[in-house]
Amino acid sequence: MLAARFLILYGSQRGQAQSIAEEICQQAAEHGFTADINCLSNQHKYNLDSEIQPVVFVVSTTGDGDPPDTAQKFVRKIKNKSLPHNHFSHLHYALLALGDTNYANFCNGGKTIDSRLQQLGAKHFYATGHADDGTGLEVVVDPWIEGLWDALKKTFSSMATSDQQDTDLSDCTQDNFHKNASGQEKYKSDLEVDLHLLKLSETDSQKGKAITSDSIDVETLSTVLVASLKQSVPPLSESALNVPALPASYLEVRLEKVSTEGETVPSDKDGYHEVSISKAVQLTQDDAVKTAISLELDISNLAYQPGDAFDILCPNRASEVEELLLRLDLQTQKNCAVQVNLLKNSTAKIPLRIPQNGSLQFILTWCLEIRRAPNKAFVRALADFTQNSSEKRRLLELCSKEGSADYNSFVRDANVCLLDLLRAFPSCLPPLSLLFEHLPKLQPRAYSAASSSLQHPGKVHFVFNVVELPARPEHPARTGLCTGWLAGHVSSILWPLGTVPASERLGTSAQPKVHVRPRPSSTFHLPADLSVPVVMVGPGTGVAPFIGFLQQREKEREANQEATFGETWLFFGCRHKDKDFLFREELERFAHNGTLSHLIVCFSRDEPDAAGTINRPTYVQHNLSLHAKNVASILIKDKGSLYVCGDAKNMTKDVNDTLLEIIGNELQIDKLDAMKTVAGLREEKRYLQDIWS
Ligand code: 2AM
Repeated sequence: MLAARFLILYGSQRGQAQSIAEEICQQAAEHGFTADINCLSNQHKYNLDSEIQPVVFVVSTTGDGDPPDTAQKFVRKIKNKSLPHNHFSHLHYALLALGDTNYANFCNGGKTIDSRLQQLGAKHFYATGHADDGTGLEVVVDPWIEGLWDALKKTFSSMATSDQQDTDLSDCTQDNFHKNASGQEKYKSDLEVDLHLLKLSETDSQKGKAITSDSIDVETLSTVLVASLKQSVPPLSESALNVPALPASYLEVRLEKVSTEGETVPSDKDGYHEVSISKAVQLTQDDAVKTAISLELDISNLAYQPGDAFDILCPNRASEVEELLLRLDLQTQKNCAVQVNLLKNSTAKIPLRIPQNGSLQFILTWCLEIRRAPNKAFVRALADFTQNSSEKRRLLELCSKEGSADYNSFVRDANVCLLDLLRAFPSCLPPLSLLFEHLPKLQPRAYSAASSSLQHPGKVHFVFNVVELPARPEHPARTGLCTGWLAGHVSSILWPLGTVPASERLGTSAQPKVHVRPRPSSTFHLPADLSVPVVMVGPGTGVAPFIGFLQQREKEREANQEATFGETWLFFGCRHKDKDFLFREELERFAHNGTLSHLIVCFSRDEPDAAGTINRPTYVQHNLSLHAKNVASILIKDKGSLYVCGDAKNMTKDVNDTLLEIIGNELQIDKLDAMKTVAGLREEKRYLQDIWS
């Protein structure tokens, strides 16, 4: 019998794939396996070219469907055309791909690696999982991991007893996680993703408003939620509550009373730079639906291109950390140094997100995501530390298979965090070790640059809406973690709309600081050839990268007066002309001096009279349709580029649908061919998206 040892390699952009890989590693020990774990960027430390131990890949997707930066070297290695077709014929592997169906090229990072490994003769010992962050990664990840152990057992026994692995292992690919992962589909090509998105948008519209919380009045919703977080109606059967316990805890946490002063933010080793915020300007009127703020950061010699983004480190709210400490009865120990050890006999690893000797307060503030909705495994673990039997029952319901719909509506979609659960279930008192095992790593938040360094040397600008999460029965009103923190952080230097910030009047000591790290985009940049026409679609704060693009083009026009510049179209949309028309003056300047050949703006909530037109377009896609001929001609005839930036939930899907219509009508082709044409644009990197959910 072969030693039951396997390798886990993760390709992670924002830490999610890494956390999942770490979870697999930890569970492996409980299932009698020994797992080595490493980042794909370190794959050269293992001899994959002749390795016979099984490999589990966990790979996320970034940009326009690219593998994460840390996986790029590996991708280059396996894409090497000189590799023989049987290069990996010895390799048995399983792959978990992470993606988001709100983006094009769902799970493409993982799929790229998967298909190339297949071409090179590697064999699946377990079917590939495609997890969708849009609907909740755990919907696929949890059952996928659950099924992995049996597949591995079969693999090891067949490796030991037979060389007929192909026959034996093919059974494993029929594993039940596809059944469990309700609604998840396998995606084979871009076209299929488009078809899937099409299907989704059709079913969404059929479902109509009844499914959205907007359409229920808030009071009714509150009553429903309070009842439902506490009990299921009707209650689930006893058998449904039989949710298997998780593997035993593996961490031991000790709190030592020594001074740990000095830690205010995580160390710089991850490439972060502490920079000053030199200006903060409110871009919207006080009575606008959302408050948009623009920040200017002094980044001196950090280089970036318009279209790139920056990661910002933000801490958890001090008040929430305090409340959590109080609730866990640890308030008096918040300055203690935390020592984390593995429990005896555990072969798991200490999670990298927990620094040794950091103070408890520091770890809860800077290292762990305390706002994220606890996943089902965490809810299951919390049930074990809940005294009251009806509370415990409800927690078990929420993490049971039958309770999935309740979990989705009352925990995940309601943005319920650990603290909310602890408030709703007062008899739950988990130990610190449980939190450390289950709370994910606090992730930085990425913001697109809204400036060009040609126009603002040494500076970068960002723009964001302060996210407001209204009060619900489970939690008080709160602001989004990073946008709310930033708004508070800059409140002393914030200039109202219409005033000119005089940053020079501020002493540098008055300037708030923030930790940032450049996050270059591999594709979302202006064409190098100035004569290529571009169409930009960016309603609301989606206009951010285009302000950077246009500043760059404005400077390039000044410097190259003889050059021919392609047409430059911007489709912008906001709610009210007088309240949230972001960057109005600057955009009008671009239109006036020719940087923008066409500035097309719409207002979704102004009375028709105010805009002077009856039946005027309200959304960016309506304007795209009105200019269908030009848009199609730029994309098809002139080989121009289309950029879309903004909210993933509705706008980008609607714009995509409109694009399909435009291409279909203008080229007189059916929907399928229009999809193929649009997929082609994506492939040529001439249809690029920078979107968020
Ligand atoms: P609304 O809030 O009035 O619906 C920036 O957020 C702008 O995008 C707002 O005017 C907003 O309009 C609009 N918007 C909302 N949903 C959209 C969608 N599906 N497609 C395009 N624009 C949308």
